[in-house]
Amino acid sequence: MKFNKLILSGLCLTLPMLFASGNALAQRVTLKLAHNLDQSHVVHKALEQMAKEVQEKSGGELKIRIYPSGQMGGPRETIELIQNDALDMTKASASEMEAFVKEFSVFSCPYLFDNEDHFKKVLFGPIGKEITDKTTKSGFNVLASYVAGTRSFYAKKEIHSPADMKGLKIRVVSTPTTNKLIELLGGAPAPIPFGEVYTALQQGVIDGAENNIPSYNQTRHVEVAKYYIEDQHTSVPDYLIISAKTWNKLDDKQKAILTEAAHNSETYQQKLWDEEVARSTEEAKKAGAKFITVDKAPFREALKPLYDDFNKDPALAEIIKQIQAVNK
Ligand code: GCU
Repeated sequence: MKFNKLILSGLCLTLPMLFASGNALAQRVTLKLAHNLDQSHVVHKALEQMAKEVQEKSGGELKIRIYPSGQMGGPRETIELIQNDALDMTKASASEMEAFVKEFSVFSCPYLFDNEDHFKKVLFGPIGKEITDKTTKSGFNVLASYVAGTRSFYAKKEIHSPADMKGLKIRVVSTPTTNKLIELLGGAPAPIPFGEVYTALQQGVIDGAENNIPSYNQTRHVEVAKYYIEDQHTSVPDYLIISAKTWNKLDDKQKAILTEAAHNSETYQQKLWDEEVARSTEEAKKAGAKFITVDKAPFREALKPLYDDFNKDPALAEIIKQIQAVNK
C-alpha cells in the first residue's frame, strides 16, 4: 500500500490546483481511475477506449489515467479513496455497491433474469437508472454500466448438485445476500478479496469460488480449481463510478464529453463481451478446465428462500416485481 499512498498524495495536491482558477477557463484536468481487473479484461479495454475518446474530443484538456489490476486495492478500497477525495473514478460490481445503496442487491437475487436480453433491458432501462441514480448521496455518480455475464461456481472437486456443495468453503464478494446464497447450498461463504483468491485456492483455504468465465480464465484460477460448474446463479453487472466532487468541478463541456464517452464505452464493452466468453472458455479448456453442465432446478429450488428475504423489504420486493414484469 506504500506505493499507492505515494501516488495518492500526489493526486490530492493536483486536483485543487487544477480547479483553482474556477470553471470559466478551460483547464487541463487529469482524472485518475483505478480498478481491480486485468488489462486483458473487456471492461479495461472499454475504459481505455473511453479515455482515448475523452482526450481526443477535449483536445487534450481532459485526460483519464488508468491504474488497473488492483494497484490501488480492490473496490472497497477504491470507493473509500473516492469518498476521501483521493481518487476520481473506479469500477465496482453491483455486489460492492450494495453497502451504499441496498437496491443493488437485487442483482444478487438468483435466477432473476430469464436471459441476457432481459438482463440488458433492466440494466440499461429505467429500473437500472432508478438504482444508479441513488448513489450520489454516498459521494459518487454512476457513469456507465457494464454487462458481466453470469456467475457460476468453480471448485477443486466436481459439483453436480447442491448436495455436492455441502461443507465447501466458497469465496464470494461478501454481502448478506451472497453469504446466504452459499449457506442455502450447504457451503460456507469466505469473504476474500478478488486478488487473493488464487492463493487461497492454492493453499486450500477455500474449496471454490464463483465468477463469470472471463474472470475465471484471466485470473488463472483454472490452475487451482479446474471444475467450472455452469449453474449460472446470478448476473451481477459492473459499474464505472466517479466522485461526485470531481464531477461537480468539471465544466459543462467536460461533463458532456465524459458522459458521451462513458456511454460509448458501454456499447463497446457489450460488443466485446460475448466474444470474450467464447474465447475464455476455449483458453480455460486448454489450461485444463472441465466444464460441467448441471440441472439448474435443484439450485433454483434451494435458493428460493432468498426471495422470501427480498419480499420482506417492500422497496426491494417492488423492484424484483418490476424486473420480473419487464419480460412478461
Ligand atoms: C468480476 C467482476 C468484478 C469483481 C469480481 C469479483 O470479475 O467483473 O467487478 O470484482 O468479479 O468477484 O471480485
